[in-house]
Amino acid sequence: MKNKVSIIGAGMTGSTTAHWLAERELADIVLVDIVEGMPQGKALDLQEALPVIGKDVSVVGSNSYEATAGSDIVVITAGLPRKPGMSRDDLLFANADIVRKAAEETIKYSPEAIFIILTNPLDVMAYLAMKVTGVAPHRVVGQAGILDSARMRAFVAMELGVSVENIHCYVLGGHGDEMVPLTRHSNVAGVPLEKAMPADRLAAIVDRTRKGGGEIVSLLKTGSAFYAPSIAIVQMVDAILKDKHLVVPAAAYLQGEYGLKDIFFGVPVQLGRRGIEKVWEYELTEQELDALRKSAAGVAENIAKLNL
Ligand code: NAI
Ligand code: 2OP
Repeated sequence: MKNKVSIIGAGMTGSTTAHWLAERELADIVLVDIVEGMPQGKALDLQEALPVIGKDVSVVGSNSYEATAGSDIVVITAGLPRKPGMSRDDLLFANADIVRKAAEETIKYSPEAIFIILTNPLDVMAYLAMKVTGVAPHRVVGQAGILDSARMRAFVAMELGVSVENIHCYVLGGHGDEMVPLTRHSNVAGVPLEKAMPADRLAAIVDRTRKGGGEIVSLLKTGSAFYAPSIAIVQMVDAILKDKHLVVPAAAYLQGEYGLKDIFFGVPVQLGRRGIEKVWEYELTEQELDALRKSAAGVAENIAKLNL
């Protein structure tokens, strides 16, 4: 039997995720959205593309949660994206209502599913999804770190003219402008970034990474990034369905790791068939820990606003 992945929110990130998943023949896919006809139309269009590339998965669009029954993974992308000038936090209350409904409905039909959350503000929405579904923390993971680290990798590759395959970057912390690009742990083919380029160039890359989401929003004007976020979700789906034990930066529920408790936050997590198998802990300097604490304070403040 094929795996089944349901994606709630068939907008830019949801439908692009479906596209990448189908192309990789990873699972049967269900796309759910509140807009009538839209998920059905996108699903049918994608289904009709698959004969050309010889991929056999089913893609179904629906306005009803029943179609999601028996999903192995539920991906929640439903919500409002940022507009120019808006921060991710501006989306808090509107998106909390949307994510709450999506979580309540999907857990009814897929009690065993693992949940991947994308909707912003990401760390807070992942926390909300865990509370609403009542599932164990290892079954909820938020996507942010793969995207933020990929942005940093892309910028380093452009700066040095080296293949992206040689570049390893680790961005931890909350998915906001206080995120923490760990330059000391990032490297080019094993050479620490701090040795591979002048300090001012590295500082510029750190700054651009932190503002990477806003850079795309200000260019697009009508929405936010979708290719890179979607492929990041697909990497997580792949790691979970194939039980890869893959370590990636992602938002996990922390219970003392990095000195933080009762918060979803970006850390290196090991992903396998049961979801988050382990949170890896780096040895950090006091300065790096301070940056993480600053980022965590912002996430905790927003979680508190939801009174969960
Ligand atoms: P979009 O506007 O293209 O799609 C969102 C979809 O959600 C729309 O089709 C809308 O009809 C649907 N929707 C709204 N309320 C719904 C409900 N109650 N039930 C089902 N569907 C509903 O937005 P996009 O670009 O796909 O972004 C989605 C969310 O993901 C935003 O909050 C955005 O900020 C966030 N995001 C997070 C990233 C991350 O790295 N964590 C990266 C990119 C986007
Ligand atoms: C991003 O970083 C909008 O959070 C989204 O692109």
